[in-house]
Amino acid sequence: MRAGRNLRCRSAMVAYPGKVATGFPKRICANERIWTRCILADITSSSRTSEEAVAQAQTIPFTRHPFADGSFKKMLIDGKWVAAASGKTFESRNPATGELLATVAEGDAEDINRAVAAARKAFEGPWSKVKPFERQAILLRLADLVEKHFDELSTLDTLDMGAPISRTRATRLRVLGMLRYYAGKATSIVGETIENSLPGDIFSYTLKEPVGVVGAIIPWNGPLGASVWKIGPALATGCTVVLKPAEEAPLTSLRLGELCLEAGVPEGVVNVVPGYGETAGAALASHPGVDKVAFTGSHVTGQSIVRASAGNLKRVSLELGGKSPDIVFEDADLDAAVPGAAMAVFANSGQICSAGTRLFVEQKVYDAFVGKVADFGKKLRVGNGLDPETQIGPLVSEQQFERVTGYLDIGQKEGAKALAGGAALREGPLAKGYFVPPTVFANVNDNMRIAQEEIFGPVISAIPFKNTDELIARANSTMFGLGSGVWTRDVSKAHRLAKAIRAGSVWVNCYQAMDPAVPFGGYKMSGYGRESGQQHLEEYLNVKAVWIKTA
Ligand code: NAI
Ligand code: MG
Repeated sequence: MRAGRNLRCRSAMVAYPGKVATGFPKRICANERIWTRCILADITSSSRTSEEAVAQAQTIPFTRHPFADGSFKKMLIDGKWVAAASGKTFESRNPATGELLATVAEGDAEDINRAVAAARKAFEGPWSKVKPFERQAILLRLADLVEKHFDELSTLDTLDMGAPISRTRATRLRVLGMLRYYAGKATSIVGETIENSLPGDIFSYTLKEPVGVVGAIIPWNGPLGASVWKIGPALATGCTVVLKPAEEAPLTSLRLGELCLEAGVPEGVVNVVPGYGETAGAALASHPGVDKVAFTGSHVTGQSIVRASAGNLKRVSLELGGKSPDIVFEDADLDAAVPGAAMAVFANSGQICSAGTRLFVEQKVYDAFVGKVADFGKKLRVGNGLDPETQIGPLVSEQQFERVTGYLDIGQKEGAKALAGGAALREGPLAKGYFVPPTVFANVNDNMRIAQEEIFGPVISAIPFKNTDELIARANSTMFGLGSGVWTRDVSKAHRLAKAIRAGSVWVNCYQAMDPAVPFGGYKMSGYGRESGQQHLEEYLNVKAVWIKTA
């Protein structure tokens, strides 16, 4: 216990070298003392006995983040921070340690009603008069604020959902890039003038109009990025939003809500209502005052969102799960493909919708290649995400831990062989968290459950193949179609596969490349609609045709 606490203190110091808590808003300055004392306890330990240092350190809750200090977090409705109408709350905890991070207002149908009413009022009122330049300026100010507070926000993601700090810090380019990309788009929303063939003089053109109130429902696997991916296009197009973060990791979205207000987002334009899926989420999905739902999460929840949307036939965009094929040909640069294929699954502990979890490897190199991927996985450092050297953090929750370890058992029972990992880590400092090591299953065949179902953990199912025609059919024989990878030096093969694979993204000799300008989304049961790129903006716009008789 003592050693564990010291480790956490050291980690906090590395995360904020030398200048703790600078740049945080005044409102939360009380916490500065805590963070500063943590660092001081560490820095000054050489001039005191180590017992004194440890004694002091143990009196200080030194993992405290200014926003995750155990206090009560309200929800954002109509520009104000309010408790739930029911008065209910839920807890958000660090999945690496079980530590309480915050008690959070638990929104349900009544809070969703209030938030939707506020979003409607803003949409039809003042926000509708705000010009593109001003929406752009707001997005750019928000980008600047997110940049200023980026270390704080990424640390909050790490604390709330467990991803290593090295990973959450590395989302900087993407998160800021998205906000600035949508800012650019705010001033380039254009309709068309269209030549028609009607007799007489009648002129036709289109207007692009914001779709209205957007219900944004997001998962926990990257809260900062997911929040920005919904708020960005809404602000760019002139929509208003009710954002429902995941119950497992609501804190970064709430902090982002504060930054939205600071950036000058008018009241009611961005509302953040944390709560459970079955209550707050379902209320938002079925609400008659919501014009569109933008959802990211499981395909099962996606199906219930489509059903819930039927009441007012609201628009829906869905970014759902996957069981993406990652295909390695024997002619590939195998030295590059080993880490590529490994991290296509192990990154974020496998909690990425487009993870390349069905690893197809050409028979001739199967044993050698899969062995190397297993060795690579064994060397990855699993631990508390706050430690800068951690490469694999915990799973987000007990529920995900049960799910993933359940699949480890299923894989063994189905006859697959774990070349790396294969069982949860329950010893020493990791005992309190939900840690599953990188796992590589060999001897997998197409029909096993571990080859068909989304596990959402650091688990590779490695499958051999011999011929390309047969491979294409097998790669496509899944209900999903989100990501895919192809590793080859043969340009014809690369193009052939890129065309033949039924998935929204194909990565050749790389994996998981993403950019705000390049569309991302699913085929089949991985969902519909696209995020990023021009098409993302279209998801938030209606097209109106206007006809004018000119003579
Ligand atoms: P989920 O799809 O149930 O939850 C995602 C979001 O939807 C959360 O905000 C949740 O509160 C909300 N939600 C849940 N039920 C709802 C309902 N009936 N109506 C409206 N909103 C609802 O996913 P969960 O339970 O977190 O994870 C289960 C599995 O889903 C994972 O193991 C993984 O396979 C998959 N998943 C896929 C993600 C992706 O990025 N595509 C992200 C998270 C999970
Ligand atoms: Mg769920």
